[in-house]
Amino acid sequence: MVRRLLAAIAVGVSAAFAPTVQPQRRVAVVPQMANNPGALKRIKQSERNRVANAAWRSRVRTWTRKTKEAVDAGDVDAAKECARVATSTIDRATRRGIYHKNWAARNKSRLSKKVIGLILESKGGAPKAEPVEA
Ligand SMILES: *[C@@H]1O[C@H](CO)[C@@H](O)[C@H](O)[C@H]1NC(C)=O
Repeated sequence: MVRRLLAAIAVGVSAAFAPTVQPQRRVAVVPQMANNPGALKRIKQSERNRVANAAWRSRVRTWTRKTKEAVDAGDVDAAKECARVATSTIDRATRRGIYHKNWAARNKSRLSKKVIGLILESKGGAPKAEPVEA
């Protein structure tokens, strides 16, 4: 009777410790180890998304850089075209949920300010001047 009770306690104790210790250790040693089809699918899916999102971010950085380079070089036509492509790329990435819409709006606004500054400058005014016609 007493022996049976002790055995039950031992089983209970090992059951209480095993599930808390083992999974943590497994995650630390072998990350991203799927133990069922659903988990495997999610691992594949998030890796696919991570790569695709990185490609979109890279495209946005490339066109932002090209726009800034064109602005620095004083090339109005190139700056306009690069800003158009950069804006379009940001919008498409935002539609895919890669950027928050406010982030996208803020970034596009700052980028276009640089281009507008260059355009005004090229028309003979100071960078921040109002466009004066006639
Ligand atoms: C807009 O986002 C890009 C990509 O993350 C970044 O390189 C750039 O500095 C941001 N801001 C402006 C004004 O371009």
